[in-house]
Amino acid sequence: MLRTLLLQLSTRPALGRALDRIPVSKRLVRRFVAGERLEEAVEALARLEAAGCLTAVTYLGENVTTPERARAAADTYGALLDEIDRRGLHSTPSLKPTHLGLDLGDEVALKNIERVLERAGKTLVWLDMEGSAYTERTLQIYRRLRTRWSNVACVVQAYLHRSERDLRSLIPGGVTVRLCKGAYHEPPDRAYPRKDDVDRNYARLGGMLLSPDAQRAGTYPAFATHDERLQRVLVEEARNLGIPADRFELQMLYGIRSELHRTLVDAGVRLRVLVPFGEDWYGYFVRRLAERPANLLFLAKHLARR
Ligand code: FDA
Repeated sequence: MLRTLLLQLSTRPALGRALDRIPVSKRLVRRFVAGERLEEAVEALARLEAAGCLTAVTYLGENVTTPERARAAADTYGALLDEIDRRGLHSTPSLKPTHLGLDLGDEVALKNIERVLERAGKTLVWLDMEGSAYTERTLQIYRRLRTRWSNVACVVQAYLHRSERDLRSLIPGGVTVRLCKGAYHEPPDRAYPRKDDVDRNYARLGGMLLSPDAQRAGTYPAFATHDERLQRVLVEEARNLGIPADRFELQMLYGIRSELHRTLVDAGVRLRVLVPFGEDWYGYFVRRLAERPANLLFLAKHLARR
């Protein structure tokens, strides 16, 4: 119930402006968000790269309502890629279609995403997956982009009932795909309500991505989860199937279970850490709180002490 409430709050940005005035919550925000400025994100990327991690980077924002803001998001990704190149780093952008204008129409988002892809050159660009109202349109945009760009990757969410069908149609295309559990509030006719079922489906879909057919097609899976058990199961499965270590990766979010980085890197696993930054952190931050009630208790305890 708490998760549902938080996910509903994640769409109320006015609360974000209020939270911003509470210093302790700002400290909690900084646990999950590298900073508001691009330079702070690039510093975090450099630190992670120095520690042997691969990285991805998200400029936070979603559901923009004007073409100017959508274009400005694409421009910021351009500036970010310039700074990454200038610093000799190798990060890959991960962007939200509604930040690039999906609510203003598929063509608006497509045009802005293509500007990022063009600037990225050979660097991969991930299209994040948002709430289920956008799943079909995001996959359609992804398919259109794939006919022109080889440097685009997609995301599939294990909590959605439709994801097995989506993977069956994506896999023969030799896609690069991130598998995550799913972070939005979804009705039971679209998503498994129980965590156990989501975890089971994650393992099953992960197995599909590692299957000999998928590997022959050139599929490159990225397992985005902090769930140690699933990480272990999928890494072992890949090794048992003889899949080389550079043909799959694990992905984690900045600030979550960072103590696992060293062990995974030392074990020869490709680990990519996604670093978010930007002023529009509210929706992202509340989704992180919703994933773990202990985060909210931490916030509540400090507020009560004030
Ligand atoms: P689970 O929720 O089972 O957590 C496992 C353990 O991880 C917990 O026991 C806890 O220790 C730790 N943990 C997890 N979340 C935490 C938190 N917020 N704070 C502190 N500890 C936490 N979703 C989506 O819908 N679309 C997308 O495009 C993406 N993209 C994406 C990229 C990357 C790189 C990652 C890692 C995740 C996403 N997600 C996402 C988010 C994803 O769907 C999911 O909500 C979170 O990863 C949490 O689920 P876990 O798989 O980590 O497992």
